[in-house]
Amino acid sequence: MTSELKRTPFQTIKRTIRTQQVIPKDLWAFLPRGWKRIGTVGILELNSNLHPWKHQIGEVYLKSIPEIDTIIHKVGVTRKTIREPSYEYLAGNPNTITLHKELGCKFWIDALKITFSNGNHAERLRMIKEIRPCETILDMFACVGNLSIPIAVNHSSVKVIGIEINPYAFQFLKKNVQMNGIEEQYQPIKGDNRIVSPKNWASRVLMGYFGIQRDQLCVALASLRSDKGGILHVHGLAGNQEKTDFRDEINQIIVNSFPNFQVTQVKKITIKTVAAGVHHYVDDITISPIK
Ligand SMILES: C[S@@+](CC[C@H](N)C(=O)[O-])C[C@H]1O[C@@H](n2cnc3c(N)ncnc32)[C@H](O)[C@@H]1O
Repeated sequence: MTSELKRTPFQTIKRTIRTQQVIPKDLWAFLPRGWKRIGTVGILELNSNLHPWKHQIGEVYLKSIPEIDTIIHKVGVTRKTIREPSYEYLAGNPNTITLHKELGCKFWIDALKITFSNGNHAERLRMIKEIRPCETILDMFACVGNLSIPIAVNHSSVKVIGIEINPYAFQFLKKNVQMNGIEEQYQPIKGDNRIVSPKNWASRVLMGYFGIQRDQLCVALASLRSDKGGILHVHGLAGNQEKTDFRDEINQIIVNSFPNFQVTQVKKITIKTVAAGVHHYVDDITISPIK
């Protein structure tokens, strides 16, 4: 009885797989030891040689992890402009809309269809710490409020504009703004950030997206207060060998279109490893007016 109580979820999973002979013995070593969790949805990454038994394996994980109602698994890479993840439902409650709680905030999200990276938690926390009172923050890729709702919830004096192009994600963004009681601070806007971003307004711009285009860097610069400048947080992916950053591109744009601005500081922060040798990073780029 004592050992029953002490068993971890993964020990329970292994034991069930063995005793119920869910998969051949030579595949036991491939069972994932960990999983991601968004609200009550558990996300597995199953090695392809486990796929013939994916639903049975999903059932075992579902029954062994107390806080999980649903199991889905990753079948491919995140796709398209709207960053739709490639997940497949495996077991449990087929409704994948769930309430995720983090950093004093609540997020409604469809874990099957919208990205919310657990690996970005430290960056969400860092942003909360970086923000100063009364800032005006533009989130150009707001999704369900992943990066910017924690800022508004934890800083009652800041104003945020969050832009989201995917109508499905936008529904959750609007709902999350209301649910967190930040309607006075946070204006969600549906549309393409190239078209609907404010001008001459922001002290800080969040650009949490892989594949940022040059015209979006121009929009970000135009959104900064022309008399004060501000900070751009520009996210990207880089391999070990590529020590690229956005400084050169932004300097070129400044020379061509924003002669009253200059780059005064660039800080590169690694957020997470996304594949062997590939990192998700963010460049904090301080833009100052030339006096
Ligand atoms: C990967 S999510 C990132 C969420 C959050 N920024 C983060 O870093 O955790 C990127 C979001 O940007 C949205 N998006 C992509 N292109 C956009 C555009 N041109 N205008 C507004 N939103 C856009 C996508 O629909 C998606 O919801």
